[in-house]
Amino acid sequence: MRAHEAGTLHADLGSNGPSWLRTPGDVNALIPILWPKTVTRGQGGALTVGGVDVHQIKQDHGTPAYVFDEADFRDRCRNFRTAFGGADVYYAGKAFIATAIVKILVEEGLSLDVCTGGELAIAIRGGMPPERIGLHGNNKSVEELTQAVEHGIGRIIVDSFDEIDRLTQIAQKAQKRPAVMVRVTVGVEAHTHEFIATAHEDQKFGFSLSGGAAAAAVDKIEQDGVLDLRGLHSHIGSQIFDAAGFEVAARRLLKLHAEIAVKHGRELPELDLGGGFGIAYTTQDEPADPHQLAGDLLRIVKQECAALHLAVPHLSVEPGRAIVGPSMFTLYEVGTVKDVDGIRTYVSVDGGMSDNIRTALYDAAYSATVAGRASSEPPILARVVGKHCESGDIVVKDEFLPADVKAGDLLAVPGTGAYCRSMASNYNHVPRPPVVAVADGASRVIVRRETVDDLLRLDVG
Ligand code: LLP
Repeated sequence: MRAHEAGTLHADLGSNGPSWLRTPGDVNALIPILWPKTVTRGQGGALTVGGVDVHQIKQDHGTPAYVFDEADFRDRCRNFRTAFGGADVYYAGKAFIATAIVKILVEEGLSLDVCTGGELAIAIRGGMPPERIGLHGNNKSVEELTQAVEHGIGRIIVDSFDEIDRLTQIAQKAQKRPAVMVRVTVGVEAHTHEFIATAHEDQKFGFSLSGGAAAAAVDKIEQDGVLDLRGLHSHIGSQIFDAAGFEVAARRLLKLHAEIAVKHGRELPELDLGGGFGIAYTTQDEPADPHQLAGDLLRIVKQECAALHLAVPHLSVEPGRAIVGPSMFTLYEVGTVKDVDGIRTYVSVDGGMSDNIRTALYDAAYSATVAGRASSEPPILARVVGKHCESGDIVVKDEFLPADVKAGDLLAVPGTGAYCRSMASNYNHVPRPPVVAVADGASRVIVRRETVDDLLRLDVG
């Protein structure tokens, strides 16, 4: 097959959909694992979320809109907290962060992982206690590091020798002793169901374990004595469904942890295994329950520590997607339906790659349903596309929708809480949608819709 310059998404016209996609018996059925917990079909088959009908959401807030089920999000926060027991759960703000989210995290007892000064600013504004904030990044600026030190945040995860030097100088100047972790590249990169433990040290993050950089970073910090080294950190990837990759990572990290104990005469008090727990975007995904994953992780770390005669360090994890991903869906309005003869039906919605770049960027699979009503028509294979001037502007590559899907229908795409609003753009000068939180029969805007005026204000003429 000839490669298309705009990517593989263009190259498979005529397909009948992927092999995993089954024709639904009932095109109105909602698959619970894909939807926030409070979503049901109410009157006339319209979706309700948090007790609010999607027609009401459209009337009050317009479309497209990210709809956030607050009860669902709180539930997932609690689930992770109880699953990981004594370990700290750092919600990864890159998945989606807003002041209202930070306030909920504070109430639910979670900590927060940020990776830029911008995310740090929201964390502080939302009232996250600084000692519960961790700062990541492979190229943190002097300003970002200075802010982190001034706020006295709980940990800075150092990622390069340049950064260790920079932070050491900042700390000396401020006469402070910031807590740090060393980001270790353990040579495992996990994707979905498999993990590969070969050449994945070839990446920008962290200090290589096998090449000795991680041990050298620890030596440097310990010898300088300016930074308070709390422990080792590893993040092996995203959208992971089983514990096998974490097991290899934990073993390798703890081996270094043990070597450090011998060399420097102290066992580091903490260990972080990162985030990356997978969620269901479609029926092909089968995520593990957080309790299952946590049980596996905690068991692996305990066994390994026992084998190495180490005390079990205080553990932490950094889930983003698994907490916020399923808590949101995007509500669109259908504008046009085009039956491209003998190939497929294109359903165009009023958003697109500016509010969900994941389909175009990662070839990610999503699902969709007509949200404003039930239909008694049979299912047809459709492709949900956006309004952007680009044929790769696809939101849902393959989905069965009712044959009578038409302009004016509301359409909902679940699983858009993580890395959709946070990666949204203004491509084609399209203002970014709001995030509307719903709970107990009421809705409130937590991030307002951008306007063309907002965009014009940046353009100084
Ligand atoms: N901790 C660290 C150090 C990370 O780099 C990340 C994600 C996480 C935690 C959270 O991972 P999660 O639990 O959300 O999978 N834009 C991509 C995902 C990039 C993830 C980057 N790091 C996507 O849309 O799939």
